[in-house]
Amino acid sequence: MVYVASTTAPVNIATLKYWGKRDKDLNLPTNSSISVTLAQEDLRTLTSAATDEGFTQDKLWLNGKEESLDSARTQQCLADLRGLRQQVEAQDPQAPKMSQWKLHIVSENNFPTAAGLASSAAGFAALVVAIAKLYQLPQDYSEISKIARKGSGSACRSLFGGYVAWEMGENLDGSDSKAVEVAPLNHWPNMKAAILVVSDMKKDTPSTSGMQLTVKTSDLFQERIKNVVPQRFEEMKQAIRNKDFPTFADLTMKDSNSFHATCLDSYPPIFYMNDTSRKIIRLVHSINAFYNETIVAYTYDAGPNAVLYYLEENESKLFAFIYKLFDKVSGWETKYTEAELNDFL
Ligand code: DP6
Repeated sequence: MVYVASTTAPVNIATLKYWGKRDKDLNLPTNSSISVTLAQEDLRTLTSAATDEGFTQDKLWLNGKEESLDSARTQQCLADLRGLRQQVEAQDPQAPKMSQWKLHIVSENNFPTAAGLASSAAGFAALVVAIAKLYQLPQDYSEISKIARKGSGSACRSLFGGYVAWEMGENLDGSDSKAVEVAPLNHWPNMKAAILVVSDMKKDTPSTSGMQLTVKTSDLFQERIKNVVPQRFEEMKQAIRNKDFPTFADLTMKDSNSFHATCLDSYPPIFYMNDTSRKIIRLVHSINAFYNETIVAYTYDAGPNAVLYYLEENESKLFAFIYKLFDKVSGWETKYTEAELNDFL
């Protein structure tokens, strides 16, 4: 008999960045991080996992194409999940011996994999949750997030929607390095995100090697993890709980800039943003200055694409300007004159 389970996992965007590992095999971070995931349906990975006594090989199909499951990270996730399944089987002699059987996994993204979005996060999260469901594991999502973390650090945050913290933990074995919910999506329902795709090229320096270079070579990085992020982590959680947009936005923008500063301080330096990215940063600060209020925040991951956060009631105020920058945004009118807009750009 074939057993099947499916799940979706959302793309998550960090507003307080994970950058640096204290253990690269276990993916243990040098700082805690926070992400905001606004829409499960818009950007997500859908994964189904099947198992049957008769399957002869573990197999994975990603977006319709067969892919290898051989990477050490994937193998670690599968081994951990099978280990937990063995505990289920030990407690219930009637339970099918799925831990001994091979898996067939089918995974599909509803966004272009190369769009510079963290597809590996949603991918590992969906893989791990689909198999955990298939195996009927009793562990909660925070516990399961530790397995997803070994696949890709940021994946642990994609087990939850809404506002999520990845607590870095202290233990050498990673047993306390897990994702926890700060607030559910409906806590702050008017929060919105827009992704400005500046380039859909694959990124230059992958996150894993980029962060290793930063840890090894950047002096600024030491300052960031010791004296900047710990306090910011607490402040950002509080701003989310209080629905304090200006504070949340300021912390988000500062943290994006701090992370990219450590990239620039790496040796040789790593550049993730390009001229258009920097133009958007200037534009966002000009918009906030124009309204004399922080109505929009930017954040950039390891690539040039911007994610903007804003409150729904400010959407037209914001898009009046974004519209000008990206002529392609259809359906948006602007009440500003060409001259007024040009002053901003
Ligand atoms: C800039 O989670 O992709 O997006 O753990 O090596 O797989 P690995 O790295 P990854 O790094 C994400 C870096 C980031 C910031 C973040 O998502 O917090």
